[in-house]
Amino acid sequence: MEKVKVGIVGCGSIGTWHIERFQRAGAEVAAICDTDEGRLEEVKARYKVPRAYTDYEDLLGRKELDAVVVALPNYLHRPVTIAAFRAGKHVLCEKPAALSSEEAEEMLRARDEAGKVLLLGLTQRFRDSSRVLKEHISAGELGEVYYAKCGYLRRSGIPGMGSWFTRKDKAGAGPIFDIGVHALDLAMWLMGDFRAKEVMASSYSKFGPLGKRAGDWGFPEPGGPFDVEDLASALIRMESGATVFLEVSWAAHIGGAQFYVTLLGDRAGADWGSLTMFCEEMGRQVDKKLYAEANDPYLAEAVHFLRCVRGEEEPITKDEEILGVQRTLDAVLRSAKSGEVVRL
Ligand SMILES: NC(=O)c1ccc[n+]([C@@H]2O[C@H](COP(=O)([O-])OP(=O)(O)OC[C@H]3O[C@@H](n4cnc5c(N)ncnc54)[C@H](O)[C@@H]3O)[C@@H](O)[C@H]2O)c1
Repeated sequence: MEKVKVGIVGCGSIGTWHIERFQRAGAEVAAICDTDEGRLEEVKARYKVPRAYTDYEDLLGRKELDAVVVALPNYLHRPVTIAAFRAGKHVLCEKPAALSSEEAEEMLRARDEAGKVLLLGLTQRFRDSSRVLKEHISAGELGEVYYAKCGYLRRSGIPGMGSWFTRKDKAGAGPIFDIGVHALDLAMWLMGDFRAKEVMASSYSKFGPLGKRAGDWGFPEPGGPFDVEDLASALIRMESGATVFLEVSWAAHIGGAQFYVTLLGDRAGADWGSLTMFCEEMGRQVDKKLYAEANDPYLAEAVHFLRCVRGEEEPITKDEEILGVQRTLDAVLRSAKSGEVVRL
């Protein structure tokens, strides 16, 4: 079969990872786009990409491209994804879906009108450990999952200080959208429950406004604004009656970075990080260690997307899941801002 031809829009930190992974996955990266000309030329030469553009409309005009990866700042996910569908391309769009669930709905409508595939870059689902745990939970081994705790916390890791990352108009939020989306999606996906009912949240900005705790991700813009949160927590009550606790930080006085999901069911519990289930067998408490390969989730994501483009698989990110996560994160922002419980 002919190689799938992919265009990558955005050649920043994650865009270059995508170029490398798609090449390894057997696709042809036929065109790239970035507004930064120096970066574009450097990336074009490094990955031997035949065509490079500074305007994404020019890339989308290339008839031979089957699919496009949108690896752009969050505020560009909606317009570029919609333009790509109108140009007849399949789309892998980076997370978070957009700046709001209304924008995400528009993207899904454009996908339907085009009859193409949309995969959202919820990369943590592609860890083999996530897949293995999901299989055990889907087989009913936890019973009814009624409580989940999840968090993605950094001691010192504000991406792109002063750039789009730390501007509300361009990022939509700080760690709530940037890394909270991974933690919440993973917890909800493992639970198989995306329908939040109400949210009580708080957020704080203690480091960013002082220019402290810059991380090594993204392209900092010295003197640029910081008007997003750097820590947030939320208590989420689900329609099912289950409760989800979410906490995120880009900067905090903690011992080190943590990314965790803990699930409690009425038959057993599970810890995603250590891939352990906490069960009861014949009246005894038993810890069961599950086994998974240490894989590259970005490569697995690229392989899955190419299979979706060829019609061999359905995207793992379903509409109600994309919208469920985005609506919940929108509610986290609204509750943190108003100080009120937000009902969805
Ligand atoms: N799935 C994951 O694990 C993961 C990891 C990191 C980032 N992301 C997501 O990927 C997206 C990009 O993040 P990043 O870290 O690569 O950001 P980045 O700032 O490193 O790169 C963004 C790139 O987009 C380019 N750009 C900006 N406006 C453009 C335009 N109009 N046309 C073409 N190019 C333009 C910039 O010049 C830059 O090179 C974000 O939405 C982020 O949330 C996902």
